[in-house]
Amino acid sequence: MTKDLRINADRMLATFNQLALIGATAEGGVNRPTFSEAHLAACKWFREEVEQAGLEFRTDGAGNHSALLTFEHSNLPTLLLGSHLDSVPDGGRFDGALGVVAALEVLRTVKENEIRLKVNLEAIDFTGEEGTLVVLLGSAALSGHLSQKDLQTPRGGRENLVEGMKRAGLSDESMLSAARPKGSLAGYLELHIEQGKRLERAGINIGVVSAIVGIWSYRLSFIGRADHAGTTAMDDRRDASLGASAFTLAARELVMTKFPNCVVNVGKMDFAPGAFNIVPARVDMALEFRSPDEEEFKQLDAALLELAGHEALRFGLELKVEFLGKHSPSIMSDSIQRAYAGACNDLGLTHVPTTSGAGHDGQSLAELCPVGMIFVPSVDGASHSPREFTKWEDCVNGANVLLQAALRLATE
Ligand code: GLV
Ligand code: MN
Ligand code: MN
Repeated sequence: MTKDLRINADRMLATFNQLALIGATAEGGVNRPTFSEAHLAACKWFREEVEQAGLEFRTDGAGNHSALLTFEHSNLPTLLLGSHLDSVPDGGRFDGALGVVAALEVLRTVKENEIRLKVNLEAIDFTGEEGTLVVLLGSAALSGHLSQKDLQTPRGGRENLVEGMKRAGLSDESMLSAARPKGSLAGYLELHIEQGKRLERAGINIGVVSAIVGIWSYRLSFIGRADHAGTTAMDDRRDASLGASAFTLAARELVMTKFPNCVVNVGKMDFAPGAFNIVPARVDMALEFRSPDEEEFKQLDAALLELAGHEALRFGLELKVEFLGKHSPSIMSDSIQRAYAGACNDLGLTHVPTTSGAGHDGQSLAELCPVGMIFVPSVDGASHSPREFTKWEDCVNGANVLLQAALRLATE
């Protein structure tokens, strides 16, 4: 009876622990930014795991790595399960890794129990989910959303992208060749840590995601004039740092007062020339904002750009605006949400609908196929940090829900 089927928790833990050693940091996290040596080592490790499990291995022009479990009709649609093996710089062990390991464990479980399904199963590790180079790189390529422009003006810098692709044996052309045809995927399922405190606070086992926020990013440059920091009068400076700082504070105020469903982040400022004794001539800032609603996005976008222009003018600066791409908010599939809820009920786990403030590969796939995600509780809500932690029991619960939801969808 497939309803009684469970993943092998000990085997999944051993696999998870092996993976956590790759790029491990002294603080207990991992450092595997996209196309770093550690990230590529994790991809190689994944390939070896897939082959050892007796599953078919596949990779594509975007460097996405997959395990395949196919049934007699090779032209069956594919139910995709997965997540990503890259991390943010000095990140945690669970973000992405848990979803890949759980997806692989689902395929191992179905294979060893010789269950025949009406879809093929594929466990995928998407290249570059964390947006270090391009927001959602591998999944955007697979879903056909990646453009030449995304590759030419990536938010992580073109030079870094080119170097990284070279290390991975990839190119612009290969990236753009990874698109899968419409209709080839029956759906995409992902297990992920929550990265927030809602589940833990409410004491609930599983969050069934109803929507994922959209993400827009810009590089804003405030441009002034370099001057002697000791001899130039305070009212005679065109100090780029003032525009950048004033904008950062005002953007926070704007979002908190007028856009309570949104968030804004200035994640990086580069000062030029960048010395104690020179008035900053230029500040380049990495700006990102997120919203669950498309209409609100447009309003926030206009308001932030107006604010940047206003602060530049106030300090006698020029403003340069470089748009670095956007991902729209994504609505998750009703039928997959129902499959997750049914699986939770069968397993005796509590569940609640929730939204995701983090970006995920499912956003790329939402126009290609039905998508659904579940979250498991993050201790203290910590994520993108070595403090990231989810109790192993919760990871196992999530993997069993993933398995049972996949079986529901694959036998319907
Ligand atoms: C990825 O985790 C993101 O939300 O930026
Ligand atoms: Mn992630
Ligand atoms: Mn992340």
